[in-house]
Amino acid sequence: MRQLHILEHPLIQNKLTHLRDVRTTNHEFRLLLEELTAFMVYEITRDYPLRPQSVTTPLEETTGFVLDVPVVLVPILRAGTGMLGGVLNLIPTAKVGHIGMYRNPETLQPVEYYSKLPPELPRARTILVDPMLATGASAAAAVDIIKREGGRSIQFLCLVAAPEGVDAFSQQHPDVPIYTAGLDRRLNEHGYILPGLGDAGDRIFGT
Ligand code: URA
Repeated sequence: MRQLHILEHPLIQNKLTHLRDVRTTNHEFRLLLEELTAFMVYEITRDYPLRPQSVTTPLEETTGFVLDVPVVLVPILRAGTGMLGGVLNLIPTAKVGHIGMYRNPETLQPVEYYSKLPPELPRARTILVDPMLATGASAAAAVDIIKREGGRSIQFLCLVAAPEGVDAFSQQHPDVPIYTAGLDRRLNEHGYILPGLGDAGDRIFGT
């Protein structure tokens, strides 16, 4: 069973359209990506637990609420790092892990070359971020690593998903919900999403 959530908020769709536009510069792309990620994180954290905490206002003492769970963000290197600032603006206390993978040119399978995850992982809400869910292979392998290190409550956040990637990812990790701003048509023969937005890493970093 797949858990796919398409975030249809008008501000999310508006920003996604600007991100897709070939005329958007690298500088604009980075800013839009951070803003869009922040809107998406706002949507996907609605059920995070809170605990009461007393607070003194300039007038009196009252009870407020604060997050009652550690949050771990895990960008997949390299394009996932473009989404970091957007999440950290909203949840500055979040811890950040990193997972690096490259594709073996012979097997076409992702190979882990780096992973460093914070010790809070087993009791945290973990948000794995990567702008594009294409074949789904690297996202699924990243979830394998997070689970191997004790991660339990995982959400996968991307900007654009291909149906092929959604199916492959969901088969391997039916317990991990996917959140995306757009479910696109298909992958082309080079593994790019159509219509997509091109190579997200190149557009973020200007390579
Ligand atoms: N990675 C990208 O950056 N873009 C795609 O379309 C697919 C994978």
